[in-house]
Amino acid sequence: MTTNPQPLLKVDGVTKRYGATLALNSVHFDLYAGEIHALMGENGAGKSTLMKILAGNEHRDAGRILLDGQEIEIRSPQEARAHGIAIIHQELNTVPTMTVAENLALGREPKGQFGVLDRRAMTRAAREKLQRIGSQIDPRRPLGDLTVGLQQMVEIARAISEEARILVLDEPTAALSRGEAVSLYRILNEMRSAGVGLIYISHRMEEVWDLADRVTVLRDGTYVDTKQKSDIRPPDVVRMMVGRSVDDLYHHEQRTPGEVVLDVRDLSGAEVGPASLQVRGGEVVCLAGLIGSGRTELARLIFGADKSESGEVLINGAAANSASPRAGIAAGIAMVPESRKEQALFLEHTVEDNIAISSLDRHSRLGVLDRPGIRQSVKKGMERLRLRLNAAQLPVSALSGGNQQKAALARWLMRESEVLILDEPTRGVDIGAKSEIYQLINELASRGKAILVVSSDLPEAIGISDRILVMRAGRVVAEMAADSATEEDVMFHATGTAATDNEGSR
Ligand SMILES: Nc1ncnc2c1ncn2[C@@H]1O[C@H](COP(=O)(O)OP(=O)(O)OP(=O)(O)O)[C@@H](O)[C@H]1O
Ligand SMILES: [Mg+2]
Repeated sequence: MTTNPQPLLKVDGVTKRYGATLALNSVHFDLYAGEIHALMGENGAGKSTLMKILAGNEHRDAGRILLDGQEIEIRSPQEARAHGIAIIHQELNTVPTMTVAENLALGREPKGQFGVLDRRAMTRAAREKLQRIGSQIDPRRPLGDLTVGLQQMVEIARAISEEARILVLDEPTAALSRGEAVSLYRILNEMRSAGVGLIYISHRMEEVWDLADRVTVLRDGTYVDTKQKSDIRPPDVVRMMVGRSVDDLYHHEQRTPGEVVLDVRDLSGAEVGPASLQVRGGEVVCLAGLIGSGRTELARLIFGADKSESGEVLINGAAANSASPRAGIAAGIAMVPESRKEQALFLEHTVEDNIAISSLDRHSRLGVLDRPGIRQSVKKGMERLRLRLNAAQLPVSALSGGNQQKAALARWLMRESEVLILDEPTRGVDIGAKSEIYQLINELASRGKAILVVSSDLPEAIGISDRILVMRAGRVVAEMAADSATEEDVMFHATGTAATDNEGSR
């Protein structure tokens, strides 16, 4: 890698402005064939913007891009593909009704006699492409029916079939099961050996440390540094990203839980239950388990986002009518859902309105909105989550992925509900903001709130909670005190066997 003096790709002084925001300020970056180069930085640092420029989805205002030492223009996604640049975007934008085969053939559909689409040939070609990455996905299935992980596999199969020389992955594992992530790592390592240059964006440090050869850090749209992984340690990268070191990430304090606030009795839905659990005031309980074990489904039943078939939910001893989210909210439950799409952020509305919306009733008297009060409390929420205040009047669509997540969190945290359900609250969030979110969870618990967190991040689950409930196949199968639990214990119960990656995700 280092013996080849010429990088495959060179980004030289690239600048990109969105209105008043300088998303990239004369950024440098280079990529060699046969390396995995991690691109790191806080939410909003400019990582996705740089990748969108390479993919032809955005255009730079200044700077040069060189491929094999030759300056190139990337005016459209088609041009990027023609240059051998493939990208798996942070938010997958798939057409759900399109089949896998159609997706793989996009732009080069085989035509039979009279120009009619040859479906059989298309399916056969798709199957071959998928087999190259060891995937058995049925090409006739609609793309939208596949898990995010499998959709990504389809994208990778396409990149490989197009003989991409550069593959960009923007937070590919944020929504992957462990099994899916493991097969992704294997394929990426194979691509590296085959001489592809890979750019890998992730907020998961362990993953970066497993995969990457080099790390480049951006901060606030500026280039900070590039290091060989072997020359640094993870805390060095954190300092480069955040500008300070983050000690005591989880902020967990000893608390004495009070009375039972959330009492779930034999609750069951289509795929989960019957499940019973209790969360006391001042207690943080974590639902752990594999993707697909029913954690999100159970959380949604408790909140009332899905209708339960039997069982009941009590809040402070009184039956909460959890027939709908509205009823859940009225009963004192707030929930931050897992997927950003579902968080019902109003993308074209301002960040301020989005954050304020769920607590408008708390800020109005006799039907009149207390605008200054709202402003004040939105400002507080934004500051706490390290969202830049000048973003308050921007549409949510202008925020980076992780910052959208923070806006969704701020919205519910502002409401100060008795029971707070957080489904994967730190997914896609940078380490500085994670630390703030953990501290907030701690403060809310100290003020007597009952908090239920769904987390796939085992160190996080163990680090922030008082008790861990492990789910498997729709049931709560184990309970453990967080201060004595280990990751192995949790995995043991989650899989029902010794820790392996046998989720059978396909
Ligand atoms: N369409 C847009 N309009 C206005 N501002 C934008 C737009 N897209 C991105 N930005 C701004 O550009 C900056 C960089 O955003 P970018 O999405 O590149 O961050 P990121 O490093 O990928 O963050 P994350 O880790 O959260 O995904 C942010 O301040 C963001 O708000
Ligand atoms: Mg991004």
